[in-house]
Amino acid sequence: MALIDKHKIIETNATILLALSFFVVTIGGIVEIAPLFYLENTIEDVDGVRPYSPLELQGREVYIREGCYVCHSQMVRPMRDEVERYGHYSLAAESQYDHPFQWGSKRTGPDLARVGGRYSDDWHVDHLIDPQSVVPESVMPKYGFLMDRMVSDKYIGDLMATNRIVGVPYTDEMIENAQLDFAAQADPDSDYDALLERYPGAQVRNFDGQPGISEMDALVAYLQMLGTLVDFSTFTPVANR
Ligand code: HEC
Repeated sequence: MALIDKHKIIETNATILLALSFFVVTIGGIVEIAPLFYLENTIEDVDGVRPYSPLELQGREVYIREGCYVCHSQMVRPMRDEVERYGHYSLAAESQYDHPFQWGSKRTGPDLARVGGRYSDDWHVDHLIDPQSVVPESVMPKYGFLMDRMVSDKYIGDLMATNRIVGVPYTDEMIENAQLDFAAQADPDSDYDALLERYPGAQVRNFDGQPGISEMDALVAYLQMLGTLVDFSTFTPVANR
């Protein structure tokens, strides 16, 4: 009997076909899933990655609320064209504390995973108020109202506590000092040493240039830290160590 005829037996008998399909899928599943049980962690720890500071976390809330992810991804893929345009490909650890993650699936605008430090605060503020004033052909909407919306620090501790429930390692001390740190980061005249100790590398500035803490301050603080936590001049993947 030719091989093709033997195969016909399987293809014309629903019960045998189902049983064998199930068998094949089971093996495939075990091969994919079982190794995960033997890994302590599927994300390798990377120096520099830390939870968001209260102001950055608030900015991230604005980013999510305004649906920036609808047009912007936050994941540099390990392909040459992307790496040359955006910088080092994204590491899993860099979105380790993102709930929900902002990888996105659509790039109407550029990837933002490494936008931090690429432009000045003024550029971001001008661009968010009126994107077409800096990039005439831009289709990005205007977000000038963020300048007028002040953010209260009332719920920032709760927001951090909620993130802690889903695994972000905020300490009691971080949550207790949430409001202080929140205010300190937007005020370069404040005493921000403790903030920097809790959130190394946090950038302290009056991001929107006006008094008070607006949603613009929070959003720009968030944009300016994106992709800046890991020092890629010293980073080596575990596999190459
Ligand atoms: C309708 C799609 C759309 C939405 C929504 C949108 N953007 Fe954009 N964005 C763009 C496009 C297109 C560009 C490229 C042209 C430009 O710079 O304006 C861009 C550019 C940018 C840039 C400059 C990136 C770079 O590397 O040059 C930043 C930063 C940015 N957007 C932030 C945001 C933020 C924050 C939000 C949410 C508050 C947002 N965008 C919402 C389409 C969008």
